[in-house]
Amino acid sequence: MRTHYCADLSIALAGQRVTLAGWAHRRRDHGGVIFIDLRDREGLAQVVCDPDRAEAFKAADRVRGEFVLRVTGRVRARPEGTVNPNLASGAVEVLAEEVEVLNPSAPPPFQLDEENLSEAVRLEHRVLDLRREPMQRNLRLRHRAATAARAFLDAQGFIDIETPVLYKSTPEGAREFLVPSRLHDGHFYALPQSPQLFKQMLMIAGFDRYYQIVKCFRDEDLRADRQPEFTQIDIETSFLGEQEIRALMERLTRHMFREVLGADLPDPFPVMRYDEAMRDYGVDKPDLRIPLKLTELTDVMQEVEFKVFSAPARLADGRVAALRVPGGGQLTRGEIDGYTEFVKALGAKGLAWIKVNARARGAEGLQSPIVKNLHAGALAAVLERTGAADGDLLFFAADRAEAANACIGALRQRVGHDRGLVEPGWRPLWVVDFPMFEFDEESNLWKARHHPFTSPKDGHEQYLESAPGKAYAKAYDLVLNGWEVAGGSVRIHRQEVQQQVFRGLKISPEEQRAKFGFLLDALQYGAPPHGGIAFGFDRLVALMAGAEAIRDVIAFPKTQRGQDLLTGAPSPVAEKQLRELHIRLRNPAQ
Ligand code: AMO
Ligand code: AMP
Repeated sequence: MRTHYCADLSIALAGQRVTLAGWAHRRRDHGGVIFIDLRDREGLAQVVCDPDRAEAFKAADRVRGEFVLRVTGRVRARPEGTVNPNLASGAVEVLAEEVEVLNPSAPPPFQLDEENLSEAVRLEHRVLDLRREPMQRNLRLRHRAATAARAFLDAQGFIDIETPVLYKSTPEGAREFLVPSRLHDGHFYALPQSPQLFKQMLMIAGFDRYYQIVKCFRDEDLRADRQPEFTQIDIETSFLGEQEIRALMERLTRHMFREVLGADLPDPFPVMRYDEAMRDYGVDKPDLRIPLKLTELTDVMQEVEFKVFSAPARLADGRVAALRVPGGGQLTRGEIDGYTEFVKALGAKGLAWIKVNARARGAEGLQSPIVKNLHAGALAAVLERTGAADGDLLFFAADRAEAANACIGALRQRVGHDRGLVEPGWRPLWVVDFPMFEFDEESNLWKARHHPFTSPKDGHEQYLESAPGKAYAKAYDLVLNGWEVAGGSVRIHRQEVQQQVFRGLKISPEEQRAKFGFLLDALQYGAPPHGGIAFGFDRLVALMAGAEAIRDVIAFPKTQRGQDLLTGAPSPVAEKQLRELHIRLRNPAQ
């Protein structure tokens, strides 16, 4: 149907007859001459229709936005002064000889190059939204990233093996999506949160190296970086230790950035222990582009009069930490109040601060609502440890460590952005040595931090049942510019260790059998040492594309409320379907 893509046209083709096919992006009537910007997947070309060609002109005259056209004509240089350097084909235009309307279009609900479209409008009219240049670019980048990953993994001997989507309910952490079984009344499949146990069984089955670019399903509260169905590059290997796995995954990541963006990531990636990350950044996925660190003050604040600090400082799991904001002395009361509201929304009780006006003058040189409550020794330690200089501001968080970290870690991120401190470039980071477990107040039980198949660090088996809080795992996350882009671990390959972990988690033998019997059985038959990782592919691509939400790199995403505005899912279903599935609704009116 066509000879060239629009963006192929260049001065080299001047004088040649070409046929293009695509959509009418814009049509301008310049008193007797009609200009059509024709758009196809590669870009735009300017088509000129003049009245000398009566038939082509007549067809062009009825063209409107998004009509599908086929245009034949001669390429010619644009007249001087009308060259468009922003367009691949900007030096030339096509003088139309034939214009054929292959299909008219209803008036689109928005102009395709409109910049400030609401997300609801975009998602409802996703087909037209996807026609727009940014979405075309993002999805092609996604394709290149997947292709680069496949090429690398294939070259390294990884085999792509598909795993089931109708799976068994085995809570791994997040809430599951369930699928009722028609053939088995009262029974359900679950959609997999990840192929975790299948890839482990593939290792036990001797495949040695597996990968899959695969959909995972989690019924979680959604955010900019979370979708209920998302894609992982899921990987598992046998007979490699933690460092070997990480080194290989670094190479994969570097390969992808090189192929897709031409960017060189640091080699090697820096490595930080989980405890260090929490101490210095308050989060387990620090954005290293922001050159601010927290200062530990818990020990200093145990004996101060100021109860807001001393009470948490004396708790076993309490923490007082400061964030130094260079030049923050310029912040107005209004701005400080804004940050106070910000941390309060995250659960903080308040946000203490000190402005360092003149450090040399001691307490006199400090401006703050709390200085009077801190003795000279504590103040001196604060200044010493934070390294505060004149003109700086210090923020303080005091609470149970988890709560204090959540607030001041987020504050660090926010202040870094607000004050323009974010350095350019790619800052990957391995966070390693995660705790095996975290305590869940609600159920009063220890829960696996990663998943219950994660191997403890050597020598930590002894804590699994007696002191779960002390056990650390061979688990690692890959963080990039503050996003957790991958997570993985070395797995337990010995049945007795797996059972110790289940006992630590208070999962009874009956429950173990019911939920994971198939894995425990497989572990009996010579499971090799194995481990792996899964990349959040949507997140990785969003970072590469510079997108703020992963919705912008997914063709047909869900909204924050889990709806597909294009198709209208989820939707009610017919009574007959429910009956076949043995389901009666509790609130049929909805
Ligand atoms: P994990 O649960 O850490 O590990 O998931 C791996 C990566 O997947 C991405 N991710 C998500 N992306 C978008 N939307 C979501 N709802 C979502 N949830 C997670 C993150 C995360 O780092 N089976 C293990 C991996 C392993 O141990 O090999 C797993 O799924 O980028
Ligand atoms: P108060 O004595 O409650 O008025 O608090 C004095 C200062 O401490 C105010 O600036 C509060 O915002 C701040 N503050 C209160 N609770 C905390 C906390 N948990 N962490 C840090 N600062 C706090």
